[in-house]
Amino acid sequence: MIFVQMLIGEMKNFTYLIGDEDSGLAAVVDPAGDVDRILKEAKIRNLKIAYIINTHAHFDHVMVNEGIALRTKAKIIMHEKSKAMKDLSVRDGDVIEVGKLKIKVIHTPGHSPESICLLIEKKLLTGDTLFVGSCGRTDLPGGNPEELYHSLLKLMNLDDSIEIYPGHDYGEKPYSMIGYEKRYNYALNFNTKKDFIRFMRGSF
Ligand SMILES: [Fe+2]
Repeated sequence: MIFVQMLIGEMKNFTYLIGDEDSGLAAVVDPAGDVDRILKEAKIRNLKIAYIINTHAHFDHVMVNEGIALRTKAKIIMHEKSKAMKDLSVRDGDVIEVGKLKIKVIHTPGHSPESICLLIEKKLLTGDTLFVGSCGRTDLPGGNPEELYHSLLKLMNLDDSIEIYPGHDYGEKPYSMIGYEKRYNYALNFNTKKDFIRFMRGSF
């Protein structure tokens, strides 16, 4: 698997390029700007971008969807609850095939109703659901602390050795592991759901 993490834009967004060497096909996740750079990263690796996948529809994660789609004919994929422009809808448990790569969709509402995480082999792209050392906010339209609590629990049930790659560079390092976050991420260390919800409501 070819896996590239790119820090793009003023909001510290991470855009990802995920490619399959054998077929030469790739997906771009959350293109946050700089179409030329994203296309160049694909070109130097001989990858054709077949899909654009958005972890959710907030503007900073879909910013150059159309710019990339126009130049590559890539199909835009989002969760079915997203109202933004897309070609294909996915739901929890679906698998997106990019050549021989299998990208599993995990629906993780809370930051927004359409938020998804993407699991590829041992790498989990967490969008704005889980950051290194923190979690996504729930005060934007469609945000819901109780849903986020359950979504985070879902992620915590994955193996400790799964690597996490967030949607923003907000932590002490650009990526982490489930086991490490379970120990050190404050958002994953509330004693009760009530405490988590109270904290999330109080933090905005
Ligand atoms: Fe967001």
